[in-house]
Amino acid sequence: MSIHPLPPPREPTGLGRLPAARWFLFIGAVAGVAFVTGVVVIMVLLSGAFDLNPRPEVTAQLQELNVALIVLFAVLLACGVGLALIVRHAVLKPVAQLTEQVRTVAGGDFDHALHVDRPAELAELSSHIDSMRARIVSAWRVASDQAEELRRSNGELEQFAYVASHDLQEPLRKVASFTQMLEQRYGPQLDERAKQYIYYAVDGAKRMQLLINDLLDFSRVGRVTGEKTVVESGAALDTALENLSATIEDTGAVITRDDLPAVTGNRLQLTQLFQNLIENAVKFRSDEAPRIHIGAVRSGAMWELSCADNGIGVEPKYADRIFLIFQRLHARDVYPGTGIGLALCRKIVEYHGGTLWLDGDAAGRGATFRWTLPPAGDDDD
Ligand SMILES: Nc1ncnc2c1ncn2[C@@H]1O[C@H](COP(=O)(O)OP(=O)(O)OP(=O)(O)O)[C@@H](O)[C@H]1O
Ligand SMILES: [Mg+2]
Repeated sequence: MSIHPLPPPREPTGLGRLPAARWFLFIGAVAGVAFVTGVVVIMVLLSGAFDLNPRPEVTAQLQELNVALIVLFAVLLACGVGLALIVRHAVLKPVAQLTEQVRTVAGGDFDHALHVDRPAELAELSSHIDSMRARIVSAWRVASDQAEELRRSNGELEQFAYVASHDLQEPLRKVASFTQMLEQRYGPQLDERAKQYIYYAVDGAKRMQLLINDLLDFSRVGRVTGEKTVVESGAALDTALENLSATIEDTGAVITRDDLPAVTGNRLQLTQLFQNLIENAVKFRSDEAPRIHIGAVRSGAMWELSCADNGIGVEPKYADRIFLIFQRLHARDVYPGTGIGLALCRKIVEYHGGTLWLDGDAAGRGATFRWTLPPAGDDDD
């Protein structure tokens, strides 16, 4: 996890474009000119007064005034120079120091501490900014550690699901085939009840095989069949329809489609996606023959595809639940299945960077599923 580089600082507007140091320089220069002009004017006036040959008491008074003015000018000059030094050392330098530190942090060195000792106001400001930096960095580290931990445990879980389902296949095949052999070889010696028990055992083993195969498919997404290329989604749909041709023929399903786009993805997974959605649309049909439409519209940077049917539909309150693994809304003897199809579809779409959802606002009866996919590389305008 990384923080993106910060955008360049916003440009100041109007008079704010001039740095504060230049303002001080400008005002200092005006004050200096006024000061020198004042000194010259007063000196000229005083020498004019001396030229008039005033009375001795007035001359003495003028001389005292002259000395007082020289002292005053000297004090003013000292104050001016002192002020300039204070502004430079107590304001401008610490501001430049703080700016430099902030720039370093903004440049990506988030551990760089911000600190200036003076003046008091800037010291307080820098300490507040620094505690803000430290808190954000620590929250970011926690979030980043958690994300890493989540990624790791997700990977482990997927690995576990894969290994478990893969390694379970063999013993299960043995259970199913030996139970069937038992029935074939000793069938005549068995009574009705024993035959029924064997039937249940074989049925259970077959169902478990189905579940394990689905689980294996599920855990493969993003692991084994991960390569992404430019895929014509129309071609993926054709393959899915071919795989489902027997079911489609049996049920008299009519499938129509828009012009389907080329997307970036994995051909095998996109075929699985269409296949599961169309299989559902056919399986959960109403009394009418299934009518299924595959649509595609451009939605921002992605393509939005849809699969709409005229079947029994899904109650809106189950719109999220149906995507959970092994979640089904009907008894297995009414509609067969393991409840993994939609979870697999969602995993495939998310692996492609899109989202899959049940459209609760779709007009008409039946169910409409929508999902987004990234366009093919040369099409992402
Ligand atoms: N097109 C649809 N019309 C009505 N209900 C649907 C539709 N698609 C899915 N559902 C509901 O969502 C549930 C989950 O679907 P999912 O495809 O995951 O499982 P399944 O079809 O029952 O089993 P599997 O696909 O693993 O064989 C289904 O049991 C069904 O109740
Ligand atoms: Mg299904």
